Formats: sequence, structure tokens, C-alpha cells
Amino acid sequence: MINDVYILAIETSCDDTSVAILKNQKVLSNIVSSQKIHEIYGGVVPELASREHDRLIIPVLKKAINDAGVNLVDIHAIAYTRGPGLLGSLLVGTSFAKSLSLSLDIPLIEINHMQAHILSIFIDDNPEKPEFPFIALTVSGGHTQLVLVKDYENFVELGTTLDDAAGEAFDKSGKLVNLNYPAGPKIDELASKGDFNKFKFPKPKVDGLNFSFSGLKTSFKNFINKQSSDFIKDNLHDICASLQSTIIEILIDKIIMAKNTHKVNDFVVCGGVSVNSFLRKKLKEIEKINRIKTYVPKINYSTDNAAMIGINGYFKFKDSKFGKFSDYSLSKYKV
Ligand code: KG4
Ligand code: ZN
Repeated sequence: MINDVYILAIETSCDDTSVAILKNQKVLSNIVSSQKIHEIYGGVVPELASREHDRLIIPVLKKAINDAGVNLVDIHAIAYTRGPGLLGSLLVGTSFAKSLSLSLDIPLIEINHMQAHILSIFIDDNPEKPEFPFIALTVSGGHTQLVLVKDYENFVELGTTLDDAAGEAFDKSGKLVNLNYPAGPKIDELASKGDFNKFKFPKPKVDGLNFSFSGLKTSFKNFINKQSSDFIKDNLHDICASLQSTIIEILIDKIIMAKNTHKVNDFVVCGGVSVNSFLRKKLKEIEKINRIKTYVPKINYSTDNAAMIGINGYFKFKDSKFGKFSDYSLSKYKV
């Protein structure tokens, strides 16, 4: 009988190489190396991302073990991101996780990246945890989804984006005003000194709990193309604030609609875009007005990181009864 469970977790789905070590729900280390190489290209270059993962995975692993103060022999299982993500990037993590699990002779646990974003809220040092069932809004560079979470294993998609993700809307619009990838955090920073009522961009009319951001992106592009570079430079704070508030309002409107449709009061908001300061402010406002309780993971568990893979691995390890671990035949990722 194992009292304390030690999980080593690996995340390589996109452009962050990350390894974490958890003791039960507590994070002992969570090392994230964000690949800078993509900045100048305005987005992630898949081939460069997998080569960077290959280069970084061992140093990141060594630092994670060192910072956690554990030995590899203490680890009970390896959890890793099987998907969704970039195929080459995932393959580096998959091969590495398989090899480590084989050489240490411990179980291998495959994790869905989006479910991991949601369950990151259960990491010990998040101050508050939701009750099941709750609804999760996962907003990242690749996804924008509303998911009904019935328990640690049961996830029902209620809505998703029909085109771009919210993070993509930030990143691609930012590129149009010469901000490096990822533009989300820079827009957030610039917007803090801007007037969000200065420029008006259209919100899409999408039925139900689905999202769309491509119309907004096109209208932003048309607006920028009509302006001189001096105008853009002089009004950058207001442009960023106006764009940001439109993206965030689209998300907030759907949270309220989800609450009214499904009569669920607890909402987890997770994924890279959940770091956005305007979103966090708006969530506080709707808590009061719409009687919603929102839970947002700490910032270092919101953007891509291995600790969220580890917490998901911990729940699967505890529930596994030794039947749910992955075998070594797995190759292609499942979405
Ligand atoms: O979850 P994540 O780290 O990686 C994916 O799985 O995609 O999310 C990355 C996304 C990027 O689009 C980035 O611009 C966005 O999250 N992001 C932000 C902020 N911080 C990260 N977007 C708006 N405001 C932020 N503060
Ligand atoms: Zn992510």
C-alpha cells in the first residue's frame, strides 16, 4: 500500500518543454522552458518546436528532479501529454516518457492536455477548489471550449470554437500591430494603460455555447490596414484595450449563457488566456452580478506546464486499479 504517490510529469504539446514532480496533489517542482525561437516568426514553427523539445527535455528533467529533492527511484509513475498538440512535439514527450517508464519499470499514464488544464485547479496550492459538477472554460492558443465536468474522468463538451481560438485571436491580431509571438501577454500589458471604449469591433452572433473569433480578426485586420503606422503607434494602448475587451466580452457572455442553460454555479477558467488581467477582473464582476463562483488556477498552472499533467496523473494513478495504465504500443495521439 502506497501512502504518498510521487508522479513525474512531462508536457511537450506545443512550445513549452516542461517536467514536474508531484507528491500527491502537492507540486515539488514545475520547470517550464518556454521556447523563444518562435518569437520572430509570429507563431510556433512545428519542426523547430520538436527540435527544441529534444534539446531541452534532459536539462529540464534534471532541474525538476534536483529542485524537488527526489531520486528517480522514488517515482511511482510517469504521466505525459498524449494530445492534443503538435505531432512532432508530442512524439518527443511520448518517446521520452515511454523510455523513462520502461527503464524505471513503473507505470506510464497518458494524459489529455485539455483535461489537464481543467484539473490543474485541484493542485494543492490553489486557494479554492470547485465542487463537481462544474463548467470549465478552457481558453488557450489552440482551444476555446466550454466543458461540463462531472468528475475527474467525465467531461462533456458543451461548446467549442468554430474557427480560431481566443489565444489565436490575441496572437494573430497582435502580429498585425507588430507584436512578437505570443502577443496575448503584451496586449494585456499595453491594454492596461488604454481606453477600451475607444474603438468598436464586432462581436459574432454564434448560436448556443459555440464561439467564433475569425470575424473579429478580419474586422481588426481591415481596421489596421486603413491606419497609418503613426496612428497605430500613437493609439496602440487604446487599440489593444478595445480588442482585448471585445475578446473577453465574447468569453464572458458565453459563461453567463452556460450558467443559465445548465444551472451550474461553479466555473473553472483555465488555459493560457485565463492569465489575462481584464478577464480576471470581469470574472470578479460577474461573480457578484450573476451569482457565479469562478475558480482560476494560479498563473504558473494556467499557461502550459507539466504540474497540470502531474495532477491528472495522480488522479488516474489513484483510480487505476492497475488496469488503466498505458501500454508501450501507443504511438499516434488521440484527440
Ligand atoms: O495554454 P497555453 O499556454 O498554450 C496552449 O495550449 O495554447 O496558451 C497560450 C495562449 C497564447 O495564445 C497566449 O497569447 C495566451 O495564451 N496568453 C494570453 C495571456 N497570457 C497568455 N492571452 C491574453 N492575455 C494574457 N495575459
Ligand atoms: Zn495548453
